[in-house]
Amino acid sequence: MKNLGLHEIRREYLKFFESKGHLILKSFSLIPKNDKSLLLIGAGMAPMKKYFTGELTPPRRRVTTCQKCIRTGDIENVGHTDRHATFFEMLGNFSFGDYFKHEAINWAWEFLTEHLDIKPEQLWATVYLNDDEAFNIWKNEIGLPEDRIVRLGKDDNFWELEVGPSGPCSEIYVDRGEKYGCGKADCKPGCDCDRYIEVWNLVFTQFDKDEKGNYNPLKHPNIDTGMGLERIATVLQGTNNIFEIDAIQDIIKEIEKISGYKYGSDKNKDISVRVITDHIRAMTFMISDTIRPSNEGRGYVLRRLIRRAARHGIILGIKKSFLADLCDQIIDSWSVEYEELKENRESIKEVIRNEEEKFLETLDQGMNILDTYVKNIGKEKTLSGQDAFKLYDTYGFPIDLTKEILAERGLKVDEEGFEELMEMQRQRARQARDMDNIGWTNKEDEHLYENIESQFVGYESEKTQSQIIKIIKDNEEVEELSQGKAVILLDKTPFYGESGGQIGDTGLIKGKDFIFKVLDTKKTSKGIHIQIGEVESGIVKKGPVEALVDPQRRRNIRRNHSVTHLVHRALREVLGDHVHQAGSLVTDSYMRFDFTHFEAISAQDLKKVEEIVNQKIFQGLEVETIVTSPEEAYKLGAVGLFEEKYGDIVRVVKMGDFSMELCGGTHVRNTADISMFKILSEGGVSSGVRRIECITGPKVYEYLNENLKTEEEICSLLKTNKSDIISKIKTNSNELKALKKELEDYKLQSAKNNVSEILKASYEIEGAKAIVYKFEGIDVNTLRNIADEVKDKLGQCVLVFSTVNEGKLNFIASVSKSLTNKYNAGNIVREVAKVTGGSGGGRPDMATAGGKDITKVDQALDKAKEMIK
Ligand code: SER
Repeated sequence: MKNLGLHEIRREYLKFFESKGHLILKSFSLIPKNDKSLLLIGAGMAPMKKYFTGELTPPRRRVTTCQKCIRTGDIENVGHTDRHATFFEMLGNFSFGDYFKHEAINWAWEFLTEHLDIKPEQLWATVYLNDDEAFNIWKNEIGLPEDRIVRLGKDDNFWELEVGPSGPCSEIYVDRGEKYGCGKADCKPGCDCDRYIEVWNLVFTQFDKDEKGNYNPLKHPNIDTGMGLERIATVLQGTNNIFEIDAIQDIIKEIEKISGYKYGSDKNKDISVRVITDHIRAMTFMISDTIRPSNEGRGYVLRRLIRRAARHGIILGIKKSFLADLCDQIIDSWSVEYEELKENRESIKEVIRNEEEKFLETLDQGMNILDTYVKNIGKEKTLSGQDAFKLYDTYGFPIDLTKEILAERGLKVDEEGFEELMEMQRQRARQARDMDNIGWTNKEDEHLYENIESQFVGYESEKTQSQIIKIIKDNEEVEELSQGKAVILLDKTPFYGESGGQIGDTGLIKGKDFIFKVLDTKKTSKGIHIQIGEVESGIVKKGPVEALVDPQRRRNIRRNHSVTHLVHRALREVLGDHVHQAGSLVTDSYMRFDFTHFEAISAQDLKKVEEIVNQKIFQGLEVETIVTSPEEAYKLGAVGLFEEKYGDIVRVVKMGDFSMELCGGTHVRNTADISMFKILSEGGVSSGVRRIECITGPKVYEYLNENLKTEEEICSLLKTNKSDIISKIKTNSNELKALKKELEDYKLQSAKNNVSEILKASYEIEGAKAIVYKFEGIDVNTLRNIADEVKDKLGQCVLVFSTVNEGKLNFIASVSKSLTNKYNAGNIVREVAKVTGGSGGGRPDMATAGGKDITKVDQALDKAKEMIK
């Protein structure tokens, strides 16, 4: 057996299948694209479902990948066993209607025995119950003795996901020797013990399973194989478990360094080391693929992994956040295959650090709360759903963490109760999900678009001679249409169907004696553009027509689409390479651009972005579209979601030397056509995702005019001309200030003149005097001055004044220093204000409070009198 490192095995495998005519594709993102049935990619075939079903054409009919995968079903077991992991890599070779069982089995055998030098005597195979074809290949072509070919049932030898391509399979097992076995006489593959480990699953994909569970035969049979990279590394390196293989050992060493704990010296602590070792890889790859911690879906999985790892760090005695530092190890090691890790290093670390620190802050508090909850747990030994929810909602404890902590103490959680509260919260918070735009599908009338050939010619022209090939009204095909709404299909269409964030075109379809008004255009999942609209005049019939896109509207859409590319690039220049597009909306009136970034963008940076984009517009960069293969586009350095585009030809839109992106949208010919660009707003969409809204061309002109209009109004109100606006405002505001001061002085003076009047209101209290008095139109400061004045005149006294000024109610209480042991101004004013629903306080000798309900002033002052008594 060859002793190869993890990273070497990966290369060997891909090279081997390349030599068998396979195209090596990079691992797809962990985020499934256009597949709502999966949360995360958990198998090599998962991102390629549409190649199996024939919905998309693969770049080659033989493909090989090493796919990053996450499976979270067994997360609680991670660390406790030798083989559970959330993150793993799956090696796979795939045939889309090309080779079948014969090649798949023979090549697997050749790779294992001749390239990895595994002894043939160590290998076993399983086949599906009645799959004689596979049985015979193993027996006759490979020469495997019959007693080492085991027939197993659906549980073991049928591969499927919730929905999608599936089929019977044949698995290859390595016999690790008696010492790993259970010793039973019938011990063989399928036995629960550790002697025979499955390394490779060869799936003979023949069905497409639908939502209802029907297995629909595929047009052609396929091959999907999957070999766990860590598994095979365990075998080759002769280790006891996945945690002992080379690259993973390096992580463990790093954890030892950080924690000072030596792996292997304490069973329980080893669990923590393993959890961290697994989760750190999962989180690094997830964040690199733009997943961010949140309370839903993938974001929740990520949050849970980070928090779980952080908590196990504490168990190891690590006193501060450490995961961000640890992930350097993963980035340095795994970037041999996944270059993007290096590019995303800073953002990966920042996301981890933020989440871990936030968690550590609340963890202490949460643990205290949990302890008090636990003390009150009754005989049923179950924490209530409400308490669990409180821990989650207030202290950020994922429910699974609570469960785990409680399980360690032999306790449970009322999960149903928790889930109910969660659902209520979700409903409150649920917003339109960021569904990727995969085109228009309406299951009911999908059949109407089958076998339709419709060519999109809208990149080159906005006006074409076409034929109406189908008219669909209320989900039924009709021959002609005299009124109302309908869908029209053209053999050739200039109308862009809504996709990639760009809205659909509108316009007219003109026949010999009819006009159909196109109100919107959509694109089906198969790429057919469908024109939706209504009859404007005449009777719409199949046959020749002129198709006319609304040119002005389209021109503005083009401006707004092209500018997103400039913005994307400018944002990266100003903020850094962690910026990735996270969504966009391009319409004729504005564009919205979402991207990954951690914090609000400063006004200065925003201005820089705006300046760069405008510069690029004014420089008049040529916009070029290159139609090429994804491989070529990647080599050119285009940015974009490559994993969505494999198999098709792709369009690369290049703007001078400034920007190059994969894009299917419609664009200006030269950036100068955008005319001008303005950012209107910037804000957050979700944790780590920002959004800007922007306008171009005519909208900027409108915006300028709006501002000019406002400016003119200001001028006319100020009775000045533009050049003097600022100085005029300054003069006015100075004047206003002076007037205010004058007014205040005047009020004070007049109040002072009235002091004798106020003094008349004084009355005797024990050894001192008191005044409770209601003022109008005096501000609090003036009131203070008056209080001081009155105090001077009156000697030892307690004063409570109220004033209503500019609609606001205020109280002050003033007490001579020598009386403060008896009367506390702070307490008095607080209680008095309370009567009106207000609040306040201050020193024992002087305090102020704001009131609320002005109609209760008299009541409040009565309260004052009562308190002074
Ligand atoms: N889809 C199969 C698996 O994941 C083989 O690739 O095991």
